[in-house]
Amino acid sequence: MRIGILTAGGDCPGLNAVIRSVVHRAVTHYGDEVIGFEDGYAGLLDGRYRSLGLNEVSGILARGGTILGSSRLERDRFRAACEDAPALAKEIGFDVLIPIGGEGTLTAAKMLSDAGLSVVGVPKTIDNDISSTDRTFGFDTAVGVATEAMDRLKTTAESHQRVMVVEVMGRHAGWIALESGMAGGAHGICLPERPFDPADLVKLVEERFSRGKKFAVICVAEGAHPQDGTMDYNVGAIDRFGHERFQGIGTALAYELETRLGKEAKPVILGHVQRGGTPTAYDRVLATRFGWHAVEAAHREDFGRMTALRGTDITMVPLAEAVTELKTVPKDRMDEAESVF
Ligand code: F6P
Repeated sequence: MRIGILTAGGDCPGLNAVIRSVVHRAVTHYGDEVIGFEDGYAGLLDGRYRSLGLNEVSGILARGGTILGSSRLERDRFRAACEDAPALAKEIGFDVLIPIGGEGTLTAAKMLSDAGLSVVGVPKTIDNDISSTDRTFGFDTAVGVATEAMDRLKTTAESHQRVMVVEVMGRHAGWIALESGMAGGAHGICLPERPFDPADLVKLVEERFSRGKKFAVICVAEGAHPQDGTMDYNVGAIDRFGHERFQGIGTALAYELETRLGKEAKPVILGHVQRGGTPTAYDRVLATRFGWHAVEAAHREDFGRMTALRGTDITMVPLAEAVTELKTVPKDRMDEAESVF
């Protein structure tokens, strides 16, 4: 069998662990050939790929990013290619495609599958917001990075009696904010799923200070937003091209708290540092298991599905089910965090 593999969308720690696992299982157990498309679906459409053997994947388990490169989808070109996807596979010469990616990548995988290509998907995202899988690899790493940041920020915040507003990733789902906020002992957590009132945060910080605790850390997901009318958060900044740009909720909230509290409040935007660097042991193991199961699924001809974690087991779920809606943080998980939203 000749297996094509690609990584698309935003990168994520653990992608290389999947690539390595696919190659090991496919080459050593089945005697398959594996080719890696460069820069996501762009490489598939351009026919840009390279052969992946044991040597090519040696030493990449702990490496962040993706050795294959990634890119966002060129929608029109992709749609046109879908019209005759099996012909594209025949022309390039591969039997099964294993795309590794988030919601956009898996939606594209479903389109290819519907067009007649043999596809086995592997989910990834640091946001942990893909439904049908309990976890995605990359999430544990991102939560670890954000937790460490909050641990570090607390000591400097305390020295200077400051409020730190830490903005973490998560445009539509607040999983990273929820778990890093809990693990990092944030004093307030703001999630996209539940609009917050800045007055509650002000109250909380004032209470802390009145108890003699002279600092606070607020963890805010990038997609969090205030309740209507509670705060003007579309605070624009003029970039070097003279365009007004949205500053992001972390910056806007720090400014708001500083104004209302009369105390220094600093925004800390963690941004892509959460996506970079080496994956945690948990993410390496999950990614490796996904890779192994993807190859098994390919040999069972279990196409149009993706690997998923359910409890501690890896199972296969239809791509259609996986991309219907995002997995957001449920109310009981928010309540457990006992924070101010
Ligand atoms: O999908 C993961 C994610 O990290 C989001 O949380 C974030 O908003 C987005 O990617 C940013 O991606 P980029 O800046 O690479 O387009």
